Amino acid sequence: MARVALVTGGMGGLGTAMCKALANSGHKVATTYIGDDAQAQEWVAKLKGEGFDFLAVKCDVTNFADAEKAVAEVVEKLGNVDVLVNNAGITRDGVFKKMTADQWLAVINTNLNSAFNMTKQVFDGMCERGFGRVVNISSINGQKGQFGQANYSAAKAGIHGLTMALAQEGAKKGVTVNTIAPGYIGTDMVMAIAEEVRNKIIAGIPVGRLGKPEEIAALVNYLASDVSGFMTGAELAINGGQHMM
Ligand code: CAA
Repeated sequence: MARVALVTGGMGGLGTAMCKALANSGHKVATTYIGDDAQAQEWVAKLKGEGFDFLAVKCDVTNFADAEKAVAEVVEKLGNVDVLVNNAGITRDGVFKKMTADQWLAVINTNLNSAFNMTKQVFDGMCERGFGRVVNISSINGQKGQFGQANYSAAKAGIHGLTMALAQEGAKKGVTVNTIAPGYIGTDMVMAIAEEVRNKIIAGIPVGRLGKPEEIAALVNYLASDVSGFMTGAELAINGGQHMM
């Protein structure tokens, strides 16, 4: 039977590639979205035109009750969630001196607390059924810190702490939990950085280019698969050589 994968923020640059990769490897795929319903339906229709059948569920991942409701809808329509990709994320960059409490909280809630809200809904069931895959999307900037990203770096470092703790709790139950730490990928989020700043960043990437969403999605797909069962609690850097640990 086809496994069910849920990707948060699946309509973004990285998320769409993840949804496609998981569908291509035989998963039934659902994604959460926030905001405009018409835009979400447009995305679903566009992907339908490319041969994909995605379930889009409205969910504010920063809200526990919303997460509970959204996962219940996925379970009802597609079945129990076997693979959860905590991908939803935002930036509110600014030097710490200028960073407001709102900017701090928006990023911590969306990029870190969301992983608790979503994983809580699925983790026990995965353990009971003896199979599960949780993939937490962190960032190179959670590993090395980034000027102007105190909020983002803190959230992205924090999510790997969650990975390592939960990996230990799931290990004997067939549930793996891993972190992917992408570098700078050619998505809207990265294209929003001022061009001059972005060009400097690209100059510091040894492979000499931004990453492609498909390159991250392929790794998500591996972690979602059966053959990745011996990998858990890992943090996988995929950053063009920009930061080597
Ligand atoms: N290290 C040290 N000093 C730095 C620096 C750095 N990396 N970057 C800038 N500075 C210095 C500048 O030279 C400048 O110094 P002076 O005042 O002496 O001239 C000072 O800090 C202020 O810099 P800015 O002019 O850039 O300040 P700003 O307020 O206009 O902009 C900023 C601040 C918005 C944070 C901007 O620097 C920026 O966009 N930085 C890039 C942040 C970034 O990489 N974000 C990643 C977004 S994508 C993402 O997050 C995805 C992912 O996972 C990778």
